[in-house]
Amino acid sequence: MLRFDYTHLSTDRVGSTHGLPLERIFAEYGARMETLVRELYASKDDVGGWKKWLNLGYDRALAESIQQYADRVRGQFTDLVVLGIGGSSLGGYALLKALLHPYWNNLPEARRQGLPRFHFVENVDGDQIHGLLDVLNLKTTLVNVISKSGTTAETMSAFMLLQARLIETFGSPEAARDHVVLTTDASSGILRQLANQHGYTAFEVPDDVGGRFSVFSAVGLLPAALCGVNIEEIQQGIRDLDAVLQNTDLRENPAAQNALFQYLFYQQGKPISVIMPYSYRLAAVSDWYVQLWAESLGKKMDRQGRVVHVGPTPVRAVGVTDQHSQVQLFNEGPFDKVFTFIQVETPEHTLTIPDAFPTVPDLAYLGNQSFHQLLNAEFESTRASLTKNMRPNATLTVPCVTPYYFGQLLYFLEVQTALAGALFQIDPFDQPGVELAKKYTYALMGRKGYEHLVEEARGGANIVTSAAV
Ligand code: PA5
Repeated sequence: MLRFDYTHLSTDRVGSTHGLPLERIFAEYGARMETLVRELYASKDDVGGWKKWLNLGYDRALAESIQQYADRVRGQFTDLVVLGIGGSSLGGYALLKALLHPYWNNLPEARRQGLPRFHFVENVDGDQIHGLLDVLNLKTTLVNVISKSGTTAETMSAFMLLQARLIETFGSPEAARDHVVLTTDASSGILRQLANQHGYTAFEVPDDVGGRFSVFSAVGLLPAALCGVNIEEIQQGIRDLDAVLQNTDLRENPAAQNALFQYLFYQQGKPISVIMPYSYRLAAVSDWYVQLWAESLGKKMDRQGRVVHVGPTPVRAVGVTDQHSQVQLFNEGPFDKVFTFIQVETPEHTLTIPDAFPTVPDLAYLGNQSFHQLLNAEFESTRASLTKNMRPNATLTVPCVTPYYFGQLLYFLEVQTALAGALFQIDPFDQPGVELAKKYTYALMGRKGYEHLVEEARGGANIVTSAAV
């Protein structure tokens, strides 16, 4: 099971100014956290509550239908292009980066055993898209368009281009049809209409599952299955951890603990939450987490409609790389951060460093040790230095990077985020703060009905007018 070590957050380890008096906190907040965990799970099926992501690990029919499609198309495609953005892309990308060979796209076809290379298009940068089209053979490419709303300009513009190119390549929309698979809302939205009109295969983003909590729906599981990841193991991992996370006893529930600790550190003047996996394979988990934490918790209004402007700022770091980048700031900069490390206990490959320079004392100590020993030593050293410098930090330990534990890791962070939202008394499942810029983009791109915002979008309006939008 995934493990959580919070000892380096305590006053015993980082001192009374920067640490938390854990025993007092367990006693003081036990009842509140019990209520919040109970409320979260009790409301998971509420219509309009956006918590049905809590059910995804149990949806065996979902995994089966995805696997059936993946088995059916296996061997037909050399490349999978995933079009999506935000919650419709970051989780799937993190999943493939973690669970496939680290240089999967460079493997010869035989080593990929008929499974496709993968490419995520999550930007509307013409250079990126042109570059991708330059290297793709569209005749053997499958495009997975992922958008719950079906209106996201970034995703839909890329789809419009890819669809046109596919039709050009195959000569007709009918002939190109099997090269597109959609993931979208079950009943509404433009992509759903297109699926019905053009007969595209389409998977669902279930009702009441929002983008950034959708990685374990078809949003993440379809690209995973298409690239050969065992998605049933992911679900099994989630189910096994869920039994722990449903525990209403704060002392026994690590996601509730970290939600609470993060919340208390925020109140105590540490608004920055750093996530730092010591793993190349888990580096993209940081990007996924940054979106989850930021978009869920950064809010203007609380649930009572009061203006609060809350939200911890997530910062992404990767061990060991960031030891030579951000760790100077982490150790000596302002006391405004709390850290969550992710450590992998057993890597797939340890790899021994050869004893290449036995007579050079500055290098000889490295000889005959494994890269895993070095990585772990660097992790422990960085953690110890932060602790000595009174920087509170916690560690999530993943036994190994497999579908089972990957499911647990992301699910843990989802539950933690939902509970943190409850502590901040905001709605972690909406994102009203992204709407204004979207409307401005519509105005600048000439969408009908948004003409009145053109001047303002160009920066011509004053603050009072903007606030009134
Ligand atoms: O978390 C979210 O809700 C967002 O990041 C969305 O996933 C993102 O905006 C993409 O939306 P859609 O899936 O509707 O294209």
